[in-house]
Amino acid sequence: MDKYIINGGNYLNGSIKISGAKNAAVAILPAVLLCDETCRIENIPCISDVNLIINILKSIGSSIKVINKNTLEINCKNVGSYTLSSAQTSGMRASSYFIGALLGRFNRARVAPPGGCDFGVRPIDQHIKGFEALGARVIYDNAMVDAKATELVGSSIYLDKVSVGATINIMLAAVKAKGLTIIENAAKEPHVVDLATFLNSMGADIMGAGTNVIKIRGVDYLHSSTYSIIPDQIEAGTYMAAVAAAGGNVVIENVIPKHLESIISKLTEAGVTIEEYEESVRVVSDKKLVATNLLTMPHPGFPTDMQPQMTTLLALADGVSIVNEGVWDNRFRYINQLILMGADITVDGKTAIVKGVKHFNSAPVCATDLRAGAALVIAALATEGVSEISNIHYIERGYEDIIEKLKNVGADIKRIYVPDPNKVDIAL
Ligand code: EPU
Repeated sequence: MDKYIINGGNYLNGSIKISGAKNAAVAILPAVLLCDETCRIENIPCISDVNLIINILKSIGSSIKVINKNTLEINCKNVGSYTLSSAQTSGMRASSYFIGALLGRFNRARVAPPGGCDFGVRPIDQHIKGFEALGARVIYDNAMVDAKATELVGSSIYLDKVSVGATINIMLAAVKAKGLTIIENAAKEPHVVDLATFLNSMGADIMGAGTNVIKIRGVDYLHSSTYSIIPDQIEAGTYMAAVAAAGGNVVIENVIPKHLESIISKLTEAGVTIEEYEESVRVVSDKKLVATNLLTMPHPGFPTDMQPQMTTLLALADGVSIVNEGVWDNRFRYINQLILMGADITVDGKTAIVKGVKHFNSAPVCATDLRAGAALVIAALATEGVSEISNIHYIERGYEDIIEKLKNVGADIKRIYVPDPNKVDIAL
């Protein structure tokens, strides 16, 4: 029920340090189940999606030592259960990674289907195709995905659709399977590569991550590792878009510029000045934005997870932009909220026609999912007057310390507590 109150219109100046990548962390933490020794994972973003993964690990017997808010030492030696109920998995998409990780550990996983943001149908048929190719029998039993194998044996798997989740899940199941697994038409996202690098640091034999053919030669044993998660490409892109829309001059620190190439290209086309350094980028904007077209695609294409933020920016640009969503069937639900703020956007299926307006009007708006929420924060920062954003729990699934990071560069933003009318608050 809590809200963000943003008094927009301030230019943003200073620097923002980017946290570890959410979508890498939610894959790497379950991967620790494949090892019986203690792993130390650093640069973990402190966000609610990661907390859900940590709670699942604890609930099945992992011992977790908190070194600091971004570093954990995890030991899974005493994990004895391969079952996860829907209460454990329904809060997020990445809970599906426990199917691959538990199958890899126990040759068995009984896991309720994952939840996650609603972008239309989100099947896991390609994950299951991979598990079956490795020799598992997978059935739906009592609303649980039940995967069972006598032994997992390497195989060739062609993904009918480029899928981050299927690529990661198959890697998790295959890393200790017997023999060679080849994933063709694999996803190439930085978080896929980060998982492979982490697994290799534990003694796995994975080649080709970051290309569309990944080869995994099964190993018997994975050992302990100390590993630091890559910076979050989408968090960085979100703050870059915020500076572009609100105007200002901000250094985005702790990034891998190579991961930001498509975002940098599109922001540059939209009239934003970006300077690249070794581990940072400077974003300079005078708010004079120009229209450009956008098509989201799997990496190295423009990331769908930046589409709402970029569309928000284009809604303030001079001219008409055509935005095509190439990954998800229904990722324009937030547009109605932008229209409440005065945007001129028409959606037709997976295409949005964005006619730039000179400015938005402040308004109370509601986040419909994680990146949609980030887009509304950008809209409010760029708009004179006080906007209120509700449903912020979505935003906090993926952005560590968003209030502090934005305040540090001059934004007027605060989080307010709103009591839930359906709950009695007891003052202690
Ligand atoms: N798909 C299938 N069958 C499958 C799997 C996917 O048809 O078995 C389809 C999907 O319906 C979609 C496309 O393939 O049309 C891509 O889906 P993908 O599997 O790549 O998505 P995901 O693994 O469920 C991850 C990210 C999303 C991000 C997508 C695409 C995580 C935890 N989630 O989802 O991130 O949008 O890849 O890049 O890594 C976010 O961070 O806000 C977010 C939603």
